[in-house]
Amino acid sequence: MPAVNGPATDADLDTLLADIDAARSQGLAAIAAALSTDELAQVESGLFGRKSALGPIKQALGSLAPDQRAGVGRALNEAQQELRTAHAQASDELAAVARREQLQREWLDLTETPPGPERGHLHLVTQTTERLEDVFVGMGFTVSEGPQAETDWYNFEALNLPAAHPARSMWDTLYLDLGERTELGDGEGGEASNVLLRTHTSPVQIRVMEVQPPPIYTICPGRVFRRDTADASHMPVFHQLEGLVVDRGISFADLAGTLEEFTSAYFGRSISSRLRPSYFPFTEPSAEFDITCVICEGAGCQTCQRTGWIELGGCGMVHPNVLTNCGIDFEEWTGFAFGFGIDRLALMRHGIDDLRDMYSNDIRFLSQF
Ligand code: DAH
Repeated sequence: MPAVNGPATDADLDTLLADIDAARSQGLAAIAAALSTDELAQVESGLFGRKSALGPIKQALGSLAPDQRAGVGRALNEAQQELRTAHAQASDELAAVARREQLQREWLDLTETPPGPERGHLHLVTQTTERLEDVFVGMGFTVSEGPQAETDWYNFEALNLPAAHPARSMWDTLYLDLGERTELGDGEGGEASNVLLRTHTSPVQIRVMEVQPPPIYTICPGRVFRRDTADASHMPVFHQLEGLVVDRGISFADLAGTLEEFTSAYFGRSISSRLRPSYFPFTEPSAEFDITCVICEGAGCQTCQRTGWIELGGCGMVHPNVLTNCGIDFEEWTGFAFGFGIDRLALMRHGIDDLRDMYSNDIRFLSQF
């Protein structure tokens, strides 16, 4: 670039014009060499603006004599115009190529079946609950539900567990502080402010008997809560299934027969049940029921501590006080009830040795069931 000062010589003008031409053809070559919009953006500052090859020529223009300026200016404008047009065209073309490539990359065949068993399924506890419901519905039972937040009345008092009853210590209870708010209603004798997370599904027995005159044949599955620390066989939140029958002439033999029938319907004929005397405030007499160990089928193993039996739940004849609390005449009607843990049942059925696995949300574990 000649430093032009004052009127330029013809040789200076020729050099300027040659520089313009060189910048033009270099620019066009750079545009043609850009293979992507990114590359084109990189060459852009070399084409236009002050730092471009034409920038200094544009500056030199100011120091030319007016008649000289017209010729060089025209050449400069033409070169710039040519570069702009070439740049815009290349930019359009490269954008179109980029778009085509993107479409190609993101192309989806909507008729394609995705590989692998990616679909989700119900949690093992839900599956177990549904299977249990099927078995009991097949035996003529209805399914009832109740709230998870309960009043002291339904969870304890109506079940023959008055305030100071020592058997309350059988349930480590989580109490709720709701202040003045409670929409649960308070049963006779209960305190409205005394709201807790139900420790068992037995309160649903009370709710059913309150509204439904006997005969009653119902099961109540649901979530229950205890102030327990999680370990291999305990969780602070778990699930139970309650059974309740109230009818004329119901005896302990009906209870034993129903549990036996259920056991073989759910586990198969090789598994049977037995009853052991026990104590629950809401039943008299009370029993605990065991089933043949599903792991060793009665032969004796580690799971059943070599007894051949595993404990499933509690049961008994509904206590006359409980019937009275629900306005049912115990001279006319008798009943039995039972309750067991759904999670434990699923655990045994599948030979799972840690209850916590069911709730750790590990898809590798859950997808097995
Ligand atoms: N509610 C008892 C518990 O959580 C289980 C139970 C025992 C339920 C005896 C019953 C029953 O209906 O009759 O430990």
